[in-house]
Amino acid sequence: MEIYTDKNKIANAIKALKSSNNTVGMVPTMGALHQGHLQLVIKALSENDVAVVSIFVNPTQFDNKTDLEKYPRTLEGDVALLKTVSETQIIVYAPTVADIYGGNTTSEAFDFDGLEFEMEGKFRHGHFDGVGTVVKRFFDIVKPHKAYFGEKDFQQLQIIKKMVEKHQLPVVIVGCKIHRASSGLAMSSRNTRLEPKYKTAAPFIYKTLKTARTQFGTKSATKVIEWVTKAFAKHDLLELEYFLIADVETLKPVKRKSNKKKYRAFIAVYAGEIRLIDNIALN
Ligand code: PAF
Repeated sequence: MEIYTDKNKIANAIKALKSSNNTVGMVPTMGALHQGHLQLVIKALSENDVAVVSIFVNPTQFDNKTDLEKYPRTLEGDVALLKTVSETQIIVYAPTVADIYGGNTTSEAFDFDGLEFEMEGKFRHGHFDGVGTVVKRFFDIVKPHKAYFGEKDFQQLQIIKKMVEKHQLPVVIVGCKIHRASSGLAMSSRNTRLEPKYKTAAPFIYKTLKTARTQFGTKSATKVIEWVTKAFAKHDLLELEYFLIADVETLKPVKRKSNKKKYRAFIAVYAGEIRLIDNIALN
């Protein structure tokens, strides 16, 4: 498996592959890979000749220094896991901060038509500018035909689609279904940091989302939100940060349900010090 740390070297390698008519799918990650990431890589390989997996803990998307420092960095294990999918068709790009940012580790300022101010945007200042900056740089270096992102970070997926549309970037963005553990817990690199009691408690999040989906069939969004808020208030270990029901296109909270619109429920929960997010399609 080829592993690159230098943007010029990987750019040249990909250029050569593309000139021999190979299609390239990209899976941007921050490492600490799990089955959820592997599903993205498998999907990328089912639609392209080669998958480029970037492994880079992007400093500009963290507003919390401790979170950045504690973010798991497991390159060797990540490469071993990727080899279980393919030894020959996967290329890893694991740059240094200097390779991506030079001497200037700051974000560009983006306008995502307001998508960035909803949900995560309210709680993680500057996060989406950081994500937009790094993903745009990856696309510029790798120039993939398609790029694959999980629906667990649904707001991120919509924001990247918006960036591609507004900046007319020549890449197709493919959203992929959330991969869950058998307990229902959405796969996340943060799960490895959950203490056992929180790991046992965390599947309550998806269980609640499923009930919210059933309730949304007959009840108003306000009623569903009230029910979820109460359910978490009674929970000993999990602390609700937000739960809301939003239009999938604008990500604005629903005021009055319309049959013509698609909605999702979005949730962020603290399990001890670890912040978990999840979401579910409602109709
Ligand atoms: O979803 C992630 O892991 C990150 O936000 C991404 C897209 C790799 C950008 O750093």
